[in-house]
Amino acid sequence: RTCAILGVPVQTGASQPGCLMGPASFRTAGLAKILSGLGWEVHDLGDLAIPPQAPLAHPNPAVHDLAETRAWIEALTPAVTQAKAAHDLPVFLGGDHAMAAGTLSGLASHAASVGRPLFVLWLDAHPDLHTLETTESGNLHGTPMAYVTGQPGCDAYPPLAHAIDPKNVCMMGIRSVDAAERALIPQIGIEVHDMRAIDETGVLAPLRAFLKRVRAANGLLHVSFDVDFLDPEIAPAVGTTVPGGASFREAHLIMEELCDSELVTSLDLVELNPFLDERGRTAKLMCDLTASLFGRRVLDRITRSY
Ligand code: ARG
Ligand code: MN
Ligand code: MN
Ligand code: MN
Repeated sequence: RTCAILGVPVQTGASQPGCLMGPASFRTAGLAKILSGLGWEVHDLGDLAIPPQAPLAHPNPAVHDLAETRAWIEALTPAVTQAKAAHDLPVFLGGDHAMAAGTLSGLASHAASVGRPLFVLWLDAHPDLHTLETTESGNLHGTPMAYVTGQPGCDAYPPLAHAIDPKNVCMMGIRSVDAAERALIPQIGIEVHDMRAIDETGVLAPLRAFLKRVRAANGLLHVSFDVDFLDPEIAPAVGTTVPGGASFREAHLIMEELCDSELVTSLDLVELNPFLDERGRTAKLMCDLTASLFGRRVLDRITRSY
């Protein structure tokens, strides 16, 4: 099976610089070699780029670097549609989470072209459900999920050809939610498993229930993995750390279960800020977790025989 690697060095959606170096850090940690070692044919498509942008103002004065995020969405949408059409499992290396506005819009177009619904597993401390009108920080990495589900208030972004049904989105690890996002969640019907729910049920039960829905609908499944999903003790290289995140074992279990399901059709690895890392440990951990998703396992075992 083939996978593509596409670097997306966007950092203007975050509050501090550094995510620009994310793709380089993943490559330094040997991601391509790890995946080819697991039997995948790996095509490194290099890094996407945007030209320098003239500033673009927004009625919400907090919003910053709008022109850059707009341009990234415009560049990403067709590039992602193509990468997905040509490969079984493209991996998009962020870059901050504003990247997902472009990857998801491109994947939604691909899904429409093959006539299958797109599902999204969102692993994050945050729902990133702000519109450009509700964001208080103005950091546009807090907005991709509102944009791709077609919420009003995102019209400063490029028009969206295919919106994602919020009912096809499952969020896990959520533990930092702003008021406007909290109000939107029940309104649009996104499935959110916050950290309290995870403590009560563990990760496997909600994940399996979601995967069952994806399989029943013959859906495509995109996984959007924000580094801050993980506990900051094991993954310090992110600008938006929130205590109480997923453990090493919970995260690996999710990746292994996703692998066994054979349902995943694309992946974002976002918010890695190598400037904040400690001797590459976060980059290495993200590569190890990706390896679990691509088939690395401790022992050979017969899966799903029970
Ligand atoms: N909700 C906060 C904000 O809008 C945090 C967003 C964090 N997003 C992220 N992709 N790390 O500023
Ligand atoms: Mn190729
Ligand atoms: Mn995020
Ligand atoms: Mn986050």
